[in-house]
Amino acid sequence: MTASMSGAPSAEIWQTQCAACHGDAGQGIQAVGAPALTQLSEPYLARQLTHFVEGIRGTHPDDSAGKRMALSVANVAQDDIPGLVSLITTQLPPTTPTTTVAGNPARGEDYYVNLCSACHGGNALGNDTLGAPALAGVSDWYLRTAYQAFLDGLRGQHPDDSYGAQMARLAPALDRQDDIDDVIAFIATLPPHRTR
Ligand code: HEC
Ligand code: HEC
Repeated sequence: MTASMSGAPSAEIWQTQCAACHGDAGQGIQAVGAPALTQLSEPYLARQLTHFVEGIRGTHPDDSAGKRMALSVANVAQDDIPGLVSLITTQLPPTTPTTTVAGNPARGEDYYVNLCSACHGGNALGNDTLGAPALAGVSDWYLRTAYQAFLDGLRGQHPDDSYGAQMARLAPALDRQDDIDDVIAFIATLPPHRTR
């Protein structure tokens, strides 16, 4: 029953319902496909959580990572979301991910500037007005799987997901794995928004 969770302290919800996958400090755990969260903005985090709670993200039958996350918010109420988001952005230490994707950052920069920067920003810090999240400081393996989910039509297809649809429309502009890895390698060179 969602009502019983509503009003529980955010730190308790985090520890009991999120940390097992995202890590105590929100640093992410690659083995379960759960990304680091600490470099994302409040509006973006709030929208994604709302979308998982409302079945707008993570419901495609082939989206196994999205489904794991969607099932995990079954006991999270809308009222819990602002507190969780503020905990993630103000209480958890900023994460700096390690590099796991090999690519050519110099090649990737060209693609990034031409195809991504208009929405995600010149330094990949995101643009909340456009709904585009920060990519700098985000785990590179997650950028890869998230991009692939848009390409494969697993994300951004729900009729109420207008921001996801914008990204899904753009994704085919870069659909070769080598090119995608080059862009991700470039993004990995950019400093994140929050630093220790
Ligand atoms: C069973 C593991 C699991 C649990 C528990 C879990 N998550 Fe997740 N979470 C994931 C996975 C896997 C993804 C990546 C989904 C994808 O690839 O689309 C994710 C994605 C997210 C995203 C989207 C990140 C982005 O960049 O779009 C947010 C926000 C998030 N989780 C927050 C939470 C919060 C808050 C909780 C606790 C209420 C929680 N998660 C519990 C596994 C989990
Ligand atoms: C037209 C604007 C636009 C352009 C251009 C664009 N994006 Fe996006 N992107 C978005 C929006 C909006 C979202 C958020 C979608 C959502 O809310 O689910 C997003 C989400 C993403 C995500 C998921 C991040 C996460 O935390 O889950 C990745 C990865 C991504 N974009 C990579 C790229 C790359 C790489 C390029 C260039 C090749 C690019 N985007 C170009 C608008 C854009």
